[in-house]
Amino acid sequence: PLPAPFTRRLTVPPELRPVPVGSDVDRFEITQRPGQVDILGGVSTPIWGYEGIFPGPTLRSRRGRPVVVTHRNALPVPTVVHLHGGHTPAEHDGYPTDLLLPEPMADHSGHNGGRTAVGRREYVYPMNQPAATLWYHDHRMDFTGPAVWRGLAGFHLVTDEEEQALPLPRGARDLPLMIADRAFDHDGTLLYPSNTDDLLDNPGVRPPYQAGVLGDTILVNGLPWPTTTVDGARYRLRLLNGSNARRYRLRLDPPPPDDRAFVQIGSDGGLLPSPIRHDSVDLAPAERMDVIVDFGRWRPGQNVVLTNDFGTGNTAHVMRFEVGDKVEDGTRVPDRLSGDHSTLRHTDAVRTRRMVFQSRDTGGAHRWLVNGEPFQPDRVHADPKLGTTEIWQLVGDLHHPIHLHLSHFQVLSRGTSGPRRSDHGWKDTIDLLPGEPAEIIIPFQDYPGRYVFHCHNLEHEDMMMMGTMRVA
Ligand code: C2O
Ligand code: CU
Repeated sequence: PLPAPFTRRLTVPPELRPVPVGSDVDRFEITQRPGQVDILGGVSTPIWGYEGIFPGPTLRSRRGRPVVVTHRNALPVPTVVHLHGGHTPAEHDGYPTDLLLPEPMADHSGHNGGRTAVGRREYVYPMNQPAATLWYHDHRMDFTGPAVWRGLAGFHLVTDEEEQALPLPRGARDLPLMIADRAFDHDGTLLYPSNTDDLLDNPGVRPPYQAGVLGDTILVNGLPWPTTTVDGARYRLRLLNGSNARRYRLRLDPPPPDDRAFVQIGSDGGLLPSPIRHDSVDLAPAERMDVIVDFGRWRPGQNVVLTNDFGTGNTAHVMRFEVGDKVEDGTRVPDRLSGDHSTLRHTDAVRTRRMVFQSRDTGGAHRWLVNGEPFQPDRVHADPKLGTTEIWQLVGDLHHPIHLHLSHFQVLSRGTSGPRRSDHGWKDTIDLLPGEPAEIIIPFQDYPGRYVFHCHNLEHEDMMMMGTMRVA
């Protein structure tokens, strides 16, 4: 029952209002619960959602203003919340065994010695970090893939004074776009090739899907190939690849008659020092890219399609913009964006580690490993010293989007060359390419404790391609 592309109207996830407390913190409350949503048009799809919707509600924060999010678990399984890109103390970061149990499971004690809460859990985020497009999603050990697929993902946007002072598009012309592929059964239910029905035991996916689960339907903000009208003006598109395993190469078709389609202003960690122009942008799972598109460069009445070079057939399209009349909007993209950037150099690092992300076939079952080892809670892969900077050499056999918790990093090199155009700025996820080692430089600051780093292909992650770093 898939709708034809460009028939559903794009929606933007609702913003969650803070609970009024009149103090120096923003308090939010989120209930994780099953929901029924109309994704395909005229048929309802059961999901698991933050507040029962997919994507979950968008949270907005200000740099330096702490945030407390109380999550209530009304789902039939334990959950873990991770603020992706958050610079967060370890106990609130969502270590994969720090479970939030649903109330009726009070007796199901935390496996593997995690810090377990029952019913509700407060996550405290200091938000001492610059303006950026962050997102939050489920992170339970072994079951992140199916839980995110069912809908447990949402945006968390951070702003600051520096960003507010820039003449960038805002309000209705600042669009968060979560791009995620899914597959559906005839009755509208989400299809995921799990080994389990209840997502309680027996993790993993069936053999043909172990390299990653791909869907044939591209959703943007939870709707298939949506369309939206835009003024002939500048828009800020906050692109997030929220897919489990799919990579995209995004392009606008037709391209603008002059200049490049996208002016990148931000990466995972926030605004770039200065804008970078792209004809197309690559986005691996979990990566974000903030781009400005000036729709005033197309003719009024023209349809501009966001396409995906890496897809075929249905997956070669993402969404459509219907360009309206040209309007003068007073925005521009300044040459200087953020001052939050010192360029880190080899000499800043106190040590170098090598991390090899490789798969192994162990008698039928596929294992995804880091330095030959599967994830095991508390098995420490790295022990960085708090307050120091390290270089990690990342090596992968296939495409692996490698994500570090706690710290944003900079890309120093790719193979024998420098970073790619899309590697600039502060990153928390790098699109590691097959057989091309990359070097990243990582400052470990502010918060000690145990954090994970892992492949963000969620099936690889669930099948153990994850390690623990103990920062002390
Ligand atoms: Cu987006 Cu460890 O996760
Ligand atoms: Cu991977």
